[in-house]
Amino acid sequence: MALPKVYVTRRIQDTGLDLLKGRVDFEVWEEPRPVDRSALFEKGAEAEGLLLTLTDRVDEELLDACPRLKVVSNYAVGYDNIDVDAATRRGILITNTPDVLTDATADIAFTLLLATARRVFESSNFLRAGEWKTWHPDLLLGRDVSGATLGIVGMGKIGEAVARRAKGFSMDILYMNRSPRPSAERELNARQVSLDELLAKSDFVSLHCPLNDETRGLIGEEQLRKMKKTAILINTSRGPVVDQKALYRACSEGWIWGAGLDVFEKEPIPTDDPLLTLPNVTAIPHLGSATIKAREGMARKAAENLLAALEGKRPPDLVNPGAFPQ
Ligand code: DGY
Repeated sequence: MALPKVYVTRRIQDTGLDLLKGRVDFEVWEEPRPVDRSALFEKGAEAEGLLLTLTDRVDEELLDACPRLKVVSNYAVGYDNIDVDAATRRGILITNTPDVLTDATADIAFTLLLATARRVFESSNFLRAGEWKTWHPDLLLGRDVSGATLGIVGMGKIGEAVARRAKGFSMDILYMNRSPRPSAERELNARQVSLDELLAKSDFVSLHCPLNDETRGLIGEEQLRKMKKTAILINTSRGPVVDQKALYRACSEGWIWGAGLDVFEKEPIPTDDPLLTLPNVTAIPHLGSATIKAREGMARKAAENLLAALEGKRPPDLVNPGAFPQ
């Protein structure tokens, strides 16, 4: 019997590709840039499975062009690149890669928090530019992390992992989440509050919510103005959760002290974006899950989810149970 056809839109780690060998008939887009939309349509027309990444948009138009499609396996925990409702209506399973990237993403959030608070990139540029003339009591002073208050927006697994790191810095933890997180309250002494209270009281605000209709633009001018002038915003979730123009004004006009960003409204962020001119903005290119272990885990999970779906089993990380035959 012919093996099901699968299209993989990036060369992911062998931990994933090796699992596919002999079980599906797969082809990989080998370029180091996102797959051309025309190629995705052409390959998708034949495919029963797509294994793709957050740079690939899965919308009604694509789904209509893929009549044989049974599963879209996303190599990411976030799946805002996929129209899940449209897929569910067509009985197409959507899967993601949770858990394996929780620690890596929490680590990068904390890296940005520390780096922005202690002006690490700004100081390094200062030194390399030959501006370091002498030690001085006022040279490049930062903000204290130890003992400060951290506000976590979206207390899922990654938010909780950030809170655990914060505990090691004796931070007080506030959080905003749709539902209470009793384990975080018990073990980390975290306190659930409204977004307004979190913004008003936190020294650091770290975003860990998914991007959806409720969270798009969640942090705009009104919210940034509610933050302390000494506070720092960290975003490792998705760029559009923050109004980037408002954030530029907040950081350049001193409404807040600075920002640490792994994600942007448009990625890659254009290098002439005014945000990148600000010394109090730490910016890195969407690296939350970029460790060898996390990416190997994501590749493995993406392959396992895909194979389970094509074999008629319920994939371990099914996002839309409504599409799975009962
Ligand atoms: C995710 O998994 O959603 C990350 O943003 C990509 O690594």
